[in-house]
Amino acid sequence: MPKITFKASSDIALIKYWGKKDEILRLPENGSVSIILDGLDTITTVEFDPQYKKDQVIIAGEEDREEASRAIKHLDRIRQLAHSDLRAKVISQNSFPKSTGLSSSGSGFAALTFAASKALGLNLSAQELSILTRQGSGTACRCAASGFVEWKDGESSESSYSHSLFPKNHWDIRDVIAVVDEGKKEISSTAGHESAQSSPFFAVRQENIKAKIKLAKKYLLSKKFTQLGELVEAECLEFHSILMTSQPYLLMWYPGSLQVMHAVRKMRQEGIEAYFTINTGFNVHVLTLPKFEQQVNARLQKLSLVKKTLLAQVGAGPQELTKHLF
Ligand code: PMV
Repeated sequence: MPKITFKASSDIALIKYWGKKDEILRLPENGSVSIILDGLDTITTVEFDPQYKKDQVIIAGEEDREEASRAIKHLDRIRQLAHSDLRAKVISQNSFPKSTGLSSSGSGFAALTFAASKALGLNLSAQELSILTRQGSGTACRCAASGFVEWKDGESSESSYSHSLFPKNHWDIRDVIAVVDEGKKEISSTAGHESAQSSPFFAVRQENIKAKIKLAKKYLLSKKFTQLGELVEAECLEFHSILMTSQPYLLMWYPGSLQVMHAVRKMRQEGIEAYFTINTGFNVHVLTLPKFEQQVNARLQKLSLVKKTLLAQVGAGPQELTKHLF
C-alpha cells in the first residue's frame, strides 16, 4: 500500500457555520462562505499496512486520545467505503497552533480525508471528497475546496458539500492572524454547536442568514472590500452574541482578543482598511488588502497582548506532496 501525503489549508469563515441540523452527518443549520488560507496549513502522511495491528495517530507530535479517536472514526468511514480493514499510521503537522480558534480541524480533516482515501485506492470526485470530509469536521468540508468557498447546508448528506465560488487568484485578500494565546481552548466547537439553538437569538440569525450569504457573494464578486469587511465584522459579533447567550454560554474572547479588536477599529479611523473576525477561540483574524498588510502586521505585533502574528493569503485546495512525514 502506498504512503500518501497531502497538504491542506485551513480557512476563515466570512459567514459562519454554527449549529447542526444532523449531529451524526454534520449537516449544518445554515450555509457558510469562507476563504481558504494559504499559510495556515496541515501536512498529513497516511500509510495502511497489514503489519499495523492498530491505528496510530500522531498530531503535532502528540498522541492525544480524544483527537486520535475522532481521526480513527473517520478512518473507519474511509475503510468502509474502500472495503478494507487495514490499520493505519497517521502523522500530521500544522504550521499554526491547534485548538485555538484557527480551524485546525478544518485543514486536518481535509488532509486526512484526501490522503487516506487515496492511500486506500478510492477514486472519489471533488463532490464525494467534500461530503466525506464534512463527516470528519464541518469546517473541513470547505477546506476540501479552493479559493473562495461556499458550503451549502443541504437537506441530506448528498446535498451538503462545498464548492469554489471563485479561484484563489480572483482577489488578493490578506489575513494577518493575531495569536494572543497558544494554549488549548476550553470548549471545542463540537460541544459548542450542540448549544447553539438554546440562544434566544439563534432563530433571528437563521431568518437573516440566507440574505447575508447572498450579500457576501455579491461583495466577493464585485470586490467591494469595505462592504465585505463591514459585513464580516458584524457577522463575527452576531455569531459571538449567539455564543454568549447560549446555555451554557461560551465566552471565547481573551483580553488580547479585545485589544486586537479595538486596535483594528483604530486603524480604520486612520485610513488603514482592516476588519476582524473570530471563530470559536481567542485568536483573531484581521482581513486586509495587500497595500495595508505590512502596516497591519506591524501594528498588531506592537500590541502588548499579542504573542505573534501569522500571515496568510487566499489558498488552493488540498495538494498531494511527494515528501512524507515518516
Ligand atoms: O467545524 P467546527 O465544528 O470546528 O466548527 C467551527 C465553526 C466556526 O469556525 C466557528 C465557524 C466556521 O464556519 O468556520
